[in-house]
Amino acid sequence: MLRVASCTALLLLLKKALGLPWFQSVGAVLVFYLGSGGWKFMRIFYKTIRRDLWGAFTLVRVKLQVRKHLRERNTIPDIFHECVKRHPNKTALIFEGTGASWTFRELDEFSNAVANFLHAEGFRSGDVIALFMENCNEYVGLWLGMAKIGVEAALINFNLRLDALEYCFSVSNSKAVIFGKEMSQAMCDVHSLMGKPVHLYCFGEGDSKTVPVGTEFLDSILQSASRHPPKGPGRSFTDKLFYIYTSGTTGLPKAAIVVHSRYFRMAALVHYGFSMRSDDVVYDCLPLYHSAGNIVGIGQCLLHGLTVVIKKKFSASRFWDDCAKYNCTIVQYIGEICRYLLNQPVREAESQHRVRMALGNGLRPAIWAEFTSRFRIPQVAEFYGATECNCSLGNFDNHVGACGFNSRILPFVYPIRLMKVNEETMELIRDAQGLCIPCKPGEPGQLVGRIIQSDPLRRFDGYVNEGATNKKIASDVFKCGDMAYLTGDVLVMDDLGYMYFRDRTGDTFRWKGENVSTTEVEGTLSRLLGQADVVVYGVEIPGTEGRAGMAAIADPNSACDLEKFAKDLKKSLPAYAHPVFLRILPEVNKTGTYKFQKTEMKNEGFNPHSVKDALYVLDSQQGRYTPLTPDMYSRIQTSKFKL
Ligand SMILES: *[C@@H]1O[C@H](CO)[C@@H](O)[C@H](O)[C@H]1NC(C)=O
Ligand SMILES: *[C@@H]1O[C@H](CO)[C@@H](O)[C@H](O)[C@H]1NC(C)=O
Ligand SMILES: *[C@@H]1O[C@H](CO)[C@@H](O)[C@H](O)[C@H]1NC(C)=O
Ligand SMILES: *[C@@H]1O[C@H](CO)[C@@H](O)[C@H](O)[C@H]1NC(C)=O
Ligand SMILES: *[C@@H]1O[C@H](CO)[C@@H](O)[C@H](O)[C@H]1NC(C)=O
Repeated sequence: MLRVASCTALLLLLKKALGLPWFQSVGAVLVFYLGSGGWKFMRIFYKTIRRDLWGAFTLVRVKLQVRKHLRERNTIPDIFHECVKRHPNKTALIFEGTGASWTFRELDEFSNAVANFLHAEGFRSGDVIALFMENCNEYVGLWLGMAKIGVEAALINFNLRLDALEYCFSVSNSKAVIFGKEMSQAMCDVHSLMGKPVHLYCFGEGDSKTVPVGTEFLDSILQSASRHPPKGPGRSFTDKLFYIYTSGTTGLPKAAIVVHSRYFRMAALVHYGFSMRSDDVVYDCLPLYHSAGNIVGIGQCLLHGLTVVIKKKFSASRFWDDCAKYNCTIVQYIGEICRYLLNQPVREAESQHRVRMALGNGLRPAIWAEFTSRFRIPQVAEFYGATECNCSLGNFDNHVGACGFNSRILPFVYPIRLMKVNEETMELIRDAQGLCIPCKPGEPGQLVGRIIQSDPLRRFDGYVNEGATNKKIASDVFKCGDMAYLTGDVLVMDDLGYMYFRDRTGDTFRWKGENVSTTEVEGTLSRLLGQADVVVYGVEIPGTEGRAGMAAIADPNSACDLEKFAKDLKKSLPAYAHPVFLRILPEVNKTGTYKFQKTEMKNEGFNPHSVKDALYVLDSQQGRYTPLTPDMYSRIQTSKFKL
C-alpha cells in the first residue's frame, strides 16, 4: 500500500514539476514492469525508490529556484548580495597560505572596488579579462568584481606557458590580463608572443623590473577605489559569467562558456543533493580555474553562505592538519588526492578532524573502503559533471564505487543515457534506423545528454570556438531529429541504475588529475624535435590512477639530444603533460590516411622485454630521461620507482 502511494506521489510530483504527460509516465512503468517480470521490478523498486525520490526532489527544487531567478533576472552577484545581507560578519573565505580571513562584507567590498576600478578604466559589459593567478581569496574577489559590471573573466590554468598560454589569451579575446605576481616570469616569457597589445595588471607587490613593460600594479590602486556597489550592468541569468578552459579530446584547451544559470545549477545541485548545511566549512584545495574548485566549492560560499577555506595548492602532508585547524566538515577531492593521502604515514590529525563528507570525483572503487575507514569519513559524495554539459550525476546515497545513478523505474525523466560505442574510436554505434542503441545494465557505453535548447537549464552553451562545439554534439540519438551532447566518457550501469566510471579512452588521458591532450603534446614535442614524427599515448602503470604519458619518437639518424629535449620540455609544457616514457624508433607506422598507428604501440607499452626499441623513463627528481632497464621496469611495476 505504501509503495503504491509513494509511486503515485512520485508520478504526480514529476508530472507537475517536469510537465511530463501522464500516460507516458504510467506507460513506461507498465512496460518496465511487464518486461522485467514482476518480482524483479518489485526488488528494484524497493531498493531504489527512496534514492529516486530524493533525486527527483533535488532536481525539482533546483529547477524551481532557477525559474525564480530567471523571472527576476537575477545574477550570481545578486544572489551573493543576499548572502551578504543575511550575515555580513560571517567568515566567507579563509586563505590558508596567509591565514587571511574575509567576511562576506569584506569580500563584497573588495569586489566592489574591483568593479568600480575596472569600470573607470573603461571596461564594459561583455568585455573579457583574463585572470592568470594562483589560488587565493582575491581570485574570487576579482572575477566576482568583474561579474558585477558584466565583464567576463577567462580563468586561465596557471600551469600553462608560452604557446598554450598565448592561445588561451587570444581565443578568449581578452582585452586585459590580470596576473598574480607569482606569474611574472611566465608573463614576461609569453609577452612577445602576444599579437595585439592588451592592458596588463599585476596583483601583489612587485617590482616593475620583473614584469612586462606597461604593467600596472593593482594592489595600491584598489586601496583607493570606491567600495560602494557599482551600478548594475543589466545582465540576466542566462548571460555569460566566465570562461573555463577544458582540455578536450582534440588539440589545445577549449574555452567553455559558463553562464550564470549554469554556475547556479552546478553549485545548487551539489548543495541540496548532498544536504549541505549552513554551518558547514568547505576545504577547497582544487585549482580555482576549474569548475570543481570554483563552482562546486566556491559556489557554496557565494550562493549558499558557507565558509570556504582556500588552499594554494594541495599538500598531502598538511591536508588533515588544515582540516582540523579550520574545523572543516567537507573536503573536496579528485581521485589522485585520495591516493596521495593514503600513501602518507599515519599522523594524529587524520583522526582528529570533523570532516563528515568528501566531495569530488574519481575516487577509485579499489581504495574507496580504505579511504573512508582510515580517515573516518562517513560519506563520500561522488559526482560527475562536465563544465560544458548538463549531464550531471551524483552519488546521493553513499553507494560504494558509484559516481551517480539514473532511475531504473522512470529513466526518461532525466534525459541522459549510456549509448553503445566503439571504445576504440568513441564512435556511437547505430541501429538500422540510424538511432543510437541504449546499453543494458552491465554494458559499457558513452554517457550522452539530450539537449533541449528552449529550456535554459538544459541548454548547451557550447564553446567559444564553433568547431569545437560541433564535435561534441550528435543528432538522431534518442529519436530522429534530436540533438545530444557527447561527454566522451564511458560508464557502466548496474541493475539498480548506479553508474560507474570506466577509464577514459580516446585522445586524452588523465594524469595527476589533469586531462592531457595527446594532440597538444604531440604538437609541442614535434616542434622541439625539429618536426619529427611523434606519437603520444597513455599507458597504465599498476597502482596509479589514470595513464602515464608515453611518446614514440621517430629518430631515423639517432640524432636526438635527450638532455636538451628534457630542458626544453620544462619550458614548454606543464609537468603533468611531460611524457613519462620515451620510445625512440627509426620510423612510426602510419595508416593509409597518414594517421599514426597508436593502438599497437599502446598495447606494447613500456616493457623492455617485449619492445626492442630504445626506451627511456623520466627521472623527475633529476629532470632527465634515463634508459629503462629491465631492473627499472620491475621497480616501476612494484611502485618502488617514484614517477
Ligand atoms: C557586523 O560588525 C559590525 C562592526 O564590526 C557591526 O557594526 C555590525 O552591527 C555587525 N553586523 C551584524 C549584522 O552583526
Ligand atoms: C574550531 O572549533 C573549536 C571548538 O568549537 C573552536 O574553539 C575554534 O575556535 C574553531 N576554530 C576555527 C578556526 O573556527
Ligand atoms: C577532463 O575531461 C572531462 C571530460 O571531457 C571533463 O569533464 C573534465 O572537466 C576535464 N578535466 C579537466 C581538468 O580539464
Ligand atoms: C540538462 O540540463 C537541465 C537543466 O539544466 C536538467 O534539468 C537536465 O536534467 C539536464 N540533463 C542532463 C542529462 O543532465
Ligand atoms: C610497423 O609495421 C610493420 C609492418 O606492418 C610491423 O612489422 C611493425 O611491428 C610495426 N611497428 C610498430 C612499432 O608498430
